Amino acid sequence: MTEQSHWYKDAIFYELYVRAFADGNGDGNGDFRGLITKLDYIQSLGVDCIWLLPMYPSPLVDDGYDIAGYFDIHRDYGTLDDFKAFLEAAHARGLRVITDLVLNHTSDQHPWFQASRNSRVDAKRDYYVWSDTDEKYPEVRIIFLDTEPSNWTLDERTGQYFWHRFYKEQPDLNYDNPEVQAAMLDVMSFWLDMGIDGFRADAVPYLFEREGTNGENLPETHAYLKRVRAYLDQHYSDRILLAEANQWPEEVVEYFGTGEDEFHMGFHFPVMPRLYMALRQGDRTPVVEIMRHTPPIPDGCQWCMFLRNHDELTLEMVTEEERQWMWQEYAPDPRMRLNLGIRRRLAPLVDNDRRRIELLNSLLFTLPGAPIVYYGDEIGMGDNIWLHDRNGVRTPMQWNDGPNAGFSNAPADKLYAPIIDDPTYGYKRINVAGQEADATSLLDTMRHMIHTRKESLVFSRGVLEFLEPEDTAILAYLRRYQDEVVLAVHNLVDEERRTALNLYSYAGAAPYDLLAGATLPIIGHSPYEVDLPPYGYRWLKLA
Ligand code: NOJ
Repeated sequence: MTEQSHWYKDAIFYELYVRAFADGNGDGNGDFRGLITKLDYIQSLGVDCIWLLPMYPSPLVDDGYDIAGYFDIHRDYGTLDDFKAFLEAAHARGLRVITDLVLNHTSDQHPWFQASRNSRVDAKRDYYVWSDTDEKYPEVRIIFLDTEPSNWTLDERTGQYFWHRFYKEQPDLNYDNPEVQAAMLDVMSFWLDMGIDGFRADAVPYLFEREGTNGENLPETHAYLKRVRAYLDQHYSDRILLAEANQWPEEVVEYFGTGEDEFHMGFHFPVMPRLYMALRQGDRTPVVEIMRHTPPIPDGCQWCMFLRNHDELTLEMVTEEERQWMWQEYAPDPRMRLNLGIRRRLAPLVDNDRRRIELLNSLLFTLPGAPIVYYGDEIGMGDNIWLHDRNGVRTPMQWNDGPNAGFSNAPADKLYAPIIDDPTYGYKRINVAGQEADATSLLDTMRHMIHTRKESLVFSRGVLEFLEPEDTAILAYLRRYQDEVVLAVHNLVDEERRTALNLYSYAGAAPYDLLAGATLPIIGHSPYEVDLPPYGYRWLKLA
């Protein structure tokens, strides 16, 4: 294997949507020229790596996850030269950049599909999955349940059905075709040669279809992904692959392979809804259980943790009963629901309660894994449930209280999406400039947490050990790495709590509160008492 610095294990990621970030040319869409002007801001957050949502040519039926050309930039976002300038400017600030690699499907507007649907004998016919009937693979679930009645759609012209896991405008590529397999390696090269630091690989469990299976995590899929990794390691160094596999931990660990032959990173999907569950129930059990059911991962690998992203808060990895409960608690209005999830942002999910926003972020930054912050959540942006699909959580970044929230100079009706302008989350109240001027703002707290986390490798590399105080409203755990130990304590209820923790093995140590910058009384041989305000949290360095 080529030299790897394992930078990704300690990195904090910032997920952003170019279209939503900053409009440099006044056409109402964010673009790379605009984004370049905001790199200082991103750097000031203390994050290490930007994850860009798809920025390729696309009819935007699935907001860019429907790619019509792999080797270019969507014209609304600029040109390849603009992208290169952005990449250079990011690297100059020590920020790495990963982009989305959409392997499973293309847009129906992609020239491959246009050719493929042209006739049954077209040279590209076999780039996609065609069938005379719509009855194959009946065990495969439908993901976009609210929109698609089937994973098969009839192509009138050629009289056959094509296969699609997502929107019918996103036909699945046929990975049984060696040409498709090779073509995707070329796509990778194009962007890696330009200098990007890796890929977030979209929808990886679904690459192959096999009769009699649900078509997820098939051995053929892993075999191809190993080829992708081998190709990466053979030609490039220090780049990463992050798997989007919305699966149970024991299935996701398969995507890490031996630690050197498949993915470097994988999202931990199941822990995410359980953070919200634990908070609403005022009981740590869901989080403790899922972490206990999370197998160890190889040394060269890392989980990615997140609270929210550009999609709905997915409830695929919970039971039917838990899902109903989550909907009832977090999405009382049916408009807040989408497919098997909740299309709301972090702040509205917790009723804009600053204490709960911070508490969840504290969990994000102290549990094992590399944290990902979704753009706008660092200032507590709201959502717009009246917009179609998941667009309500992808509205323009709120920079200031001026026209269009400082996002764009275009007339307001030209913006790709309306700025959030309600009394609670509207840009006049919630914006970067306002929070930068306020030393008690959420933005300030987020920066403080990020900087504190980065002072030590204990959060990114340390082992996890839960403490079990009698009071289940307390979620407390140790992180240990080399000779360093940090205790993270969280109070999941809206009441003050004094908790007594078993810290006998640290007797003699004086805990240091990393966030508050204060030394606490020395640990003795009786249970150690920690006071927490309602929804309070503390990071205590023990050694
Ligand atoms: C997962 C992406 O996160 C989502 O936004 C997209 O719709 C699907 N994959 C299909 O590409």
